[in-house]
Amino acid sequence: MSRIVLGVAGGIAAYKACEVLRRLSEGGHEVTVVPTANALAFVGETTWAALSGRPVATSVFETVHEVPHVRIGQSADLVLVAPATADLLARAASGRADDLLTNVLLTARCPVLMVPAMHTEMWQHPATVANVATLRERGVVVLDPAHGRLTGADSGPGRLPEPVDIVAVATSLLDHPGTVEAVRTRDLAGRRVVVSAGGTHEALDPVRFLGNASSGKQGMALARAAALRGASVTLVAAHVSAPLPSGMEVVRVSSTAELADAMTAAAASADAIVMAAAPADFTPAQPSPGKIKKDSDSGLSVAFVQTTDVLARLSHHRPRRQVIVGFAAETAADPAELVELGRAKLARKGCDLLVCNNVSGGAVFGADSTTVTIVDASGVVGEATGDKSVVAHHIWDAVSEKLQKGSNR
Ligand code: CTP
Repeated sequence: MSRIVLGVAGGIAAYKACEVLRRLSEGGHEVTVVPTANALAFVGETTWAALSGRPVATSVFETVHEVPHVRIGQSADLVLVAPATADLLARAASGRADDLLTNVLLTARCPVLMVPAMHTEMWQHPATVANVATLRERGVVVLDPAHGRLTGADSGPGRLPEPVDIVAVATSLLDHPGTVEAVRTRDLAGRRVVVSAGGTHEALDPVRFLGNASSGKQGMALARAAALRGASVTLVAAHVSAPLPSGMEVVRVSSTAELADAMTAAAASADAIVMAAAPADFTPAQPSPGKIKKDSDSGLSVAFVQTTDVLARLSHHRPRRQVIVGFAAETAADPAELVELGRAKLARKGCDLLVCNNVSGGAVFGADSTTVTIVDASGVVGEATGDKSVVAHHIWDAVSEKLQKGSNR
């Protein structure tokens, strides 16, 4: 359990912070809400107290004997400000201490995550741009706002990102401290990355298909994490059972053949490719053009042919130097066997990194967390357990290291 301070500034997106709070509390975190006076004009103290199950700290002059303006910041594992308005960013950048939240920001020694939300004009104003640059220079993680509909009829950059995305970033910062530095320095800036996600559907006839239980969560977490670290991301999404991320190019595909085409096209300009999708290994040799009818009592036999191994094809026909990552679900008796199987598959597929998952206890599809061992040709280069957004950053750490070395070996 971590101690999180949720700072809420006075913007209409404050209502979305309720969902952020609910998710953090359900995740088992102890959340202290510190709303500004203006935030309370949008969402009242009662709501924050009920959702957090804790007293709400609103003023430096309450419970003064407990020195809240120092204690709250000092004892936090993470300070998350959502929404961070233009005014809050300005006050934080200039080191003001004119209310409880800015006091907390000055006393916190833990990671600080700010999630701006405001009108496009305010976000793009040179004053705000300079304030964000100052905060980032000092190590604060400031997310870019999402594009979309703002209050009123206008739209553009300025929307608060989705609560689920905010919580994923918060979780990564808490569980994998290296993320703070990677996000702050944008270690993937200037890199083009392509990530595949989800399970394919192979058509039997116009209404039936052969599919699999992949949720696409790990691939989408990888795409989000790469965007956060500054990469230009293309997500090739097959069938997924969770919301698609925003702020990146998304190419939708259905079958393994479509996935192979989309990946080959996107790979031409990619610096890194991650095959997190679960493509079918077999597809019906001759899908029926019409709906297959029941014929008296007879059963149904379908001949299958093998699909393209996309990962192997991309690895063996590289248009440029790239870091290519595959996934492998293996049934191994112990960690040593998992690494052995992984290295053999890595060699077979020709990729540079393989993310191995031991499914001998039964494959768990659609879960939010996982355990992986990351191998390259020389052996284990990383291990991670936790939320898929955290595991995603461990995978990018390994990719980033290879990219920085200028070598995929
Ligand atoms: N993969 C692919 N194209 C396919 C099938 C799989 O690119 N037609 C990729 C997956 O996205 C994943 C990796 O290959 O990154 C793992 O594939 P896996 O099914 O474990 O490998 P196989 O070669 O099928 O090995 P096994 O015989 O152990 O199932």
